[in-house]
Amino acid sequence: MFSRLREDIASIIERDPAARTAWEVLTCYPGLHAIVMHRWAHSCWQNGWKWLGRFISHVARGLTGIEIHPGAKIGRRVFIDHGFGVVIGETAEVGDDCTIYQGVTLGGTSLSKGTKRHPTLERGVIVGAGAKVLGGFTVGEGAKVGSNAVVVKEVPAGATAVGNPAHIVQKDANKAREEATARMFAAYGVTPNGDDPLSSALRGLIDQAATQEHQLQKIIAALKAAGITCDVLPQLDKFDPEQLNRLVE
Ligand SMILES: CC(C)(COP(=O)(O)OP(=O)(O)OC[C@H]1O[C@@H](n2cnc3c(N)ncnc32)[C@H](O)[C@@H]1OP(=O)(O)O)[C@@H](O)C(=O)NCCC(=O)NCCS
Repeated sequence: MFSRLREDIASIIERDPAARTAWEVLTCYPGLHAIVMHRWAHSCWQNGWKWLGRFISHVARGLTGIEIHPGAKIGRRVFIDHGFGVVIGETAEVGDDCTIYQGVTLGGTSLSKGTKRHPTLERGVIVGAGAKVLGGFTVGEGAKVGSNAVVVKEVPAGATAVGNPAHIVQKDANKAREEATARMFAAYGVTPNGDDPLSSALRGLIDQAATQEHQLQKIIAALKAAGITCDVLPQLDKFDPEQLNRLVE
């Protein structure tokens, strides 16, 4: 339990430029409190203690302004920033490392019980303040939903959806880079220095180096599997594209 809490706090500090210390996050972040209470509520719900699950969810809503149905599945390191007015429905699924801002609804449009009525957010999705995502469809990995968007159909992985009804404005814009750098988080869904040509050039070089590093590791592993060993070269510092990309910010 404490290791989950520690990783939640670390992920908040990483993603919120306003977060100063772990103590501040632990005591002053309603999004964290809502997630922790949801874990209790969800566990009750799954073990057949439905009323208790609903009651914990209801108390959490009063304390945090965030309503998460105890049946909803929430992944690891999910960050609900500010959070007031967030509503997450019973059959919603929120993947690891998603970020949800205040006023977001993950809601349904159908009344039929027992069906998947609420959306699934795959890993790393960012949903901007006030956005409504309505229906039992999937928002693909790493996609961004703009603030106040009303999303009523699938969003492909890596795409950005804005407006009402939402439409796609950027398809896979940052996907290659994000894959190469193991998905560096962009606070508020914005890529820092995205327009700066020097930053873009450096990011391109980092991506290239990350891809080559990955390919080399695969080749060495294949050679090893075939019983061929390579000469041991002097050990260099571990190549860390995430850290390099942070320096380019
Ligand atoms: C959607 C979002 C992620 C896009 O960021 P981005 O990748 O940097 O994209 P850009 O700002 O270049 O915008 C791309 C296009 O979408 C439009 N756009 C961006 N956000 C929009 C929004 N919320 N609603 C409608 N249109 C939007 C821009 O005007 C631009 O249109 P254009 O190409 O016709 O000029 C970002 O604008 C956003 O809404 N982030 C959420 C922020 C938030 O909720 N913050 C709360 C903090 S408390």
